[in-house]
Amino acid sequence: MIKTIEWTDEGVVMLDQRLLPQEEIYLTFTHPEEVIEAIRDLVIRGAPAIGVAAAMGMALGAQGLADDPEAFRREYQDLGERMLAARPTAVNLRWAVRRMQVLVDETLAEGVEPTRQRLIDEACLMHGEDIEINRAMGRNGAALVPESACILTHCNAGALATAGYGTALGVVRAAQEAGKEVRVLADETRPFLQGARLTTWELHHDGIPCTLITDNMAGHMMQRGEVDLVVVGSDRIAANGDVANKIGTYSVAVLAKEHGIPFYVAAPTSTVDLEAPSGEAIPIEQRSSDEVAILYDHRIVPEGVSAAYPAFDVTPHQLVTAIITEQGVARAPYVESLAEQCAAAQQEG
Ligand code: MRU
Repeated sequence: MIKTIEWTDEGVVMLDQRLLPQEEIYLTFTHPEEVIEAIRDLVIRGAPAIGVAAAMGMALGAQGLADDPEAFRREYQDLGERMLAARPTAVNLRWAVRRMQVLVDETLAEGVEPTRQRLIDEACLMHGEDIEINRAMGRNGAALVPESACILTHCNAGALATAGYGTALGVVRAAQEAGKEVRVLADETRPFLQGARLTTWELHHDGIPCTLITDNMAGHMMQRGEVDLVVVGSDRIAANGDVANKIGTYSVAVLAKEHGIPFYVAAPTSTVDLEAPSGEAIPIEQRSSDEVAILYDHRIVPEGVSAAYPAFDVTPHQLVTAIITEQGVARAPYVESLAEQCAAAQQEG
């Protein structure tokens, strides 16, 4: 399986996703500020992978903090604040930081040294759990896939966006493992090209048939009957089922609705933010306009022309056919089904 991120004795090792598919280079980070920068600069990206990276960064950070418990607690809180600021939309980041902070609160009475080790163990546990959760989600989602199907996906919600196996692409993998004949249409996903660079790379790696399309081809493909279903991931799902995901997802959902094509979202319950009543409460990350205006070191718009870059959009729950989690398949009314699934996940945890 593709290794996105790993805890090693040398530090936190991540596959540098900025360089794929041309180069497969692993970077090792030994300082939490480097992990924060790696998350911000998209060395690692995708909500669940960001969560695991944040947990590992927090475990790394604990190693260098004060030996005095009260100072340790304070410094750990500050580190958490800096980690949270790395990327605002993916709620898995907040989920991971909070989980590490709760652990500190629970174990600091035992002393700073055992707490440091417990934080490493917890981060590694979260890594393993994420893969298991994705496999469960995959199995739940595979049941929704016809025996032979063309699945359109946007961005990369695969092994690269998680600790392994993937969310949306986990559904594709599980459907294939169940003997179904699946093929994928991958939106290229301007401007960072997660679909073109990452989704095609990992599907090709695993021998899953995949065709790249530019973002503006999705409607045409649907109109011609070439798409059976859409499956995407998410960075944050509000309590009412509104879904934040990579910019362009909303347009795909509207097109799917127009053509009567099911639009599924695959995401772990850690992506559900019950504190956000609706999509309006989800912060949308605004990234540098240069990331849109400059393509592989070439400026594609005249100097002085501005470019907008909201990195995510919100798909209203009315456009979502179902939300696939590790707990099952949630359907409208999402206020109830998502709350139930989150409660079940919490009980298991
Ligand atoms: O900016 P990115 O690449 O981090 O955005 C990633 C996405 O939008 C994914 O679809 C989402 O995080 C789900 S990943 C399983």
